[in-house]
Amino acid sequence: MTTFPERVFSGMQPTHSLHLGNYLGAMVNWVKMQDTHDCIYCVVDMHAITVWQEPEELTRNIRELTAAYLAGGVDPERSVIFNQSAVPAHAELAWVFNCIARMGWLNRMTQFKEKAGKDRENASTGLFVYPNLMAADILVYRATHVPVGEDQKQHLELARDIAAKFNNDFAGSIAAHGHGEAFFPLPEPFITGPATRVMSLRDGTKKMSKSDASDFSRINMTDDADAIAQKFRKARTDPEPLPSEVEGLAARPEADNLVGIFAALKGSSKQAVLAEYGGRGFAEFKPALAELAVERLSPIAAEMRRLLADPAEIDALLARGAERANAIAAPIMDEVKDVVGLLRPKR
Ligand code: AMP
Ligand code: TRP
Repeated sequence: MTTFPERVFSGMQPTHSLHLGNYLGAMVNWVKMQDTHDCIYCVVDMHAITVWQEPEELTRNIRELTAAYLAGGVDPERSVIFNQSAVPAHAELAWVFNCIARMGWLNRMTQFKEKAGKDRENASTGLFVYPNLMAADILVYRATHVPVGEDQKQHLELARDIAAKFNNDFAGSIAAHGHGEAFFPLPEPFITGPATRVMSLRDGTKKMSKSDASDFSRINMTDDADAIAQKFRKARTDPEPLPSEVEGLAARPEADNLVGIFAALKGSSKQAVLAEYGGRGFAEFKPALAELAVERLSPIAAEMRRLLADPAEIDALLARGAERANAIAAPIMDEVKDVVGLLRPKR
């Protein structure tokens, strides 16, 4: 079996300001993985346009999400940070994958069903092939590990299926071109921590999401201290005190969610939180949670504001990142063309 050096890739869509789910579900792990891996973190602007985006707002959101990555602790010296559309190999490989993935595979994607809603006939074709572009994002770097929230698991499975089918369909050509048994690794989702699925503050059975109509359902990374305190105060809960064991959270989705958020913000575990707060009521727990959230989030918001005051600096940083990303992706895309039999000018 061919082995591939470990490499991390992940991305977020510049469609909104970041919320606590994005931060705790994904970004906290991005930051940690920088200590152990080569990491590539992308602002996936081409995924964003699978649904309508106001052009000026999109440009602003690309810079703002980049600022959020940096303020959240992604280090542009150690990691590669860039926006997807600046590296053409993503779109090129996505086209090849459009020809590898099967209609039946994409028809099973729950995120497409959710985003297209009842009016499937009117969804963009880009929204349907969205997972193929996501597979290309990852595989154009031969990335092996992908830190994401729970909701991306199905897309990662599809990326593995695409990699396996490519390796299989072109096995002869892959070997003939000196790549051994496998051209692409099968990328592993990396979904870990006490908050891989942060739920809405209004309804413990729905995930925290940018598209929820109520702003009280989510904590935005740019919310001020008052907004954070107010949202946690109004968060839906049951009347019981907190249990002292994790098992006691089983049938209590709202309590489970708030304890998970606390643990993730603190960098500890649900068990450790319950060891401290078990037996105490929400009247005591919620203010402590709000205080912790403000302590963690307000320096990030302040740093984002500082960075956004100089958009030219952000643009320059993205341009450097795109160059580094392109230097990895372009030669792999050349090899893909050779394996598939697409004739290309020799460099
Ligand atoms: P998106 O905002 O859809 O681009 O998501 C960016 C990242 O945040 C992905 O890795 C998602 O899995 C993750 N994510 C989004 N919402 C949540 C949530 N409510 N809980 C945990 N992770 C989330
Ligand atoms: N689909 C992901 C989301 O909505 C974003 C994404 C695009 C991504 N390409 C990726 C995540 C590659 C990880 C790896 O959250």
